[in-house]
Amino acid sequence: LSLLVLHGPNLNLLGQREPEIYGKTTLDGINRMLEQEAQLLEVQLSMLQSNHEGALVDAIHSAFGQHQGLLINAGAYTHTSIAIRDAISGVGIPTVEVHLSNIYRREAFRHHSFISSVAIGQISGFGAESYRLGLQALVHHLKGQKA
Ligand code: DQA
Repeated sequence: LSLLVLHGPNLNLLGQREPEIYGKTTLDGINRMLEQEAQLLEVQLSMLQSNHEGALVDAIHSAFGQHQGLLINAGAYTHTSIAIRDAISGVGIPTVEVHLSNIYRREAFRHHSFISSVAIGQISGFGAESYRLGLQALVHHLKGQKA
């Protein structure tokens, strides 16, 4: 299994960005942790971070036929981007949505996600651990489908 991990806007600042909300782990640290988990789960990962909505849409399109699953933290685009939502539903790749913070205990504008309705499920609020849990959930879903 080959999976794509997409990190949206401002996640390149992790470690220095509002650590009381997002934790002290850097994006590199999260990616390293995901690589370790992927080895245990025996899956391949590709990672991309972009601050640009269109680049994220392009990456989702390119994943078609290349990757069997998508793990995405769309950052603030979660709450605004119908384009990213439509790209996910357009390619039909099974997707798990993750957030470091619990978006439901924050500002009201973070309570709605355009991604959720096209995702298998969402993991929100466990810091960097959200990504590991999301990867495990995605792999379990994909392996369960095959069996
Ligand atoms: C986030 C939550 C979003 O509301 C925010 O805009 C982010 C990060 C999270 O991982 O908690 O950039 O997706």
